[in-house]
Amino acid sequence: MQGTVGFIGAGNMAQALIRGIISAGLLQPQQIMVSNRSQDKLQALTADSGIRAAGNNPEVVRQADLLVLAVKPQVADAVMQEIGPLCRPEQVLISIVTGLSLQRLAELTSARQSAVRVMPNTPALCGAGMSAVTPNAATSPQQLSDVLELFGACGAAEVVPESLMDVVTGVSGSSPAYVFMFIEAMADAAVRSGMPRAQAYRFCAQAVLGAASMVLETGKHPGQLKDQVCSPGGTTIEAVASLERSGFRSSVLEAVDACIRKAKTLQA
Ligand SMILES: NC(=O)c1ccc[n+]([C@@H]2O[C@H](COP(=O)([O-])OP(=O)(O)OC[C@H]3O[C@@H](n4cnc5c(N)ncnc54)[C@H](OP(=O)(O)O)[C@@H]3O)[C@@H](O)[C@H]2O)c1
Repeated sequence: MQGTVGFIGAGNMAQALIRGIISAGLLQPQQIMVSNRSQDKLQALTADSGIRAAGNNPEVVRQADLLVLAVKPQVADAVMQEIGPLCRPEQVLISIVTGLSLQRLAELTSARQSAVRVMPNTPALCGAGMSAVTPNAATSPQQLSDVLELFGACGAAEVVPESLMDVVTGVSGSSPAYVFMFIEAMADAAVRSGMPRAQAYRFCAQAVLGAASMVLETGKHPGQLKDQVCSPGGTTIEAVASLERSGFRSSVLEAVDACIRKAKTLQA
């Protein structure tokens, strides 16, 4: 890919994306420029990855062909007030900020500004991310294709209507956290029964990775895949019955609903 990709904010999500993009070989480190509020974090990232550090946000806006806004929702409006007037219509403004609407981005730039809302997730770090992408009307097919290529380099990227962005936050943006909890809990049980902890994490994480791959690669219903593991009178159905008794499915459903509700309260 040609050109410069700029990041405003060098936090967890920006770092996962930057490392994913570089590992995929889509961009050379020198094609990536980043600004951040605290200079320590920025220096550590640039020293480690070879990307370019900017002294301030406007410097990134001036140099970037694709500009990624990667700050927390609470500060996004203030940052956009600072950089919005500097954005150029031919430059793609990508916001990964939860709840920040395309309408608000247009108000803070101009109706002619190409703007794309993206909801990525941290597995982008190892090339297994999932990103939802919504372009505004000012975005050309080529600009959309560039954004899909950028986020696709870190895993999968798919266009969704903006009305589904909060749902995406619930099922892929935030869900790595729930899966980490699941892995940690399974590993605790393994440790309790005598397995060394590091080995327990390997077994649990590989099982989650394998199960997810089966859903994606076979196209079978998850319930059918679950049934195939459950022999009559066997061990797995005992675990499944225990999960049902403790409300596993409804806990997950409630958690995702809570995440979606919270995302809606962040709407701007
Ligand atoms: N983390 C995820 O899994 C995830 C997934 C999908 C979407 N998102 C979205 O991605 C965005 C970033 O999330 P995050 O988890 O990466 O947050 P984070 O780790 O807190 O990173 C935000 C970064 O923005 C910097 N910052 C704050 N004010 C700034 C300013 N005025 N100018 C330049 N940089 C500034 C912060 O600098 P300091 O070092 O000074 O704090 C921090 O490094 C959020 O809007 C979130 O909704 C996150």
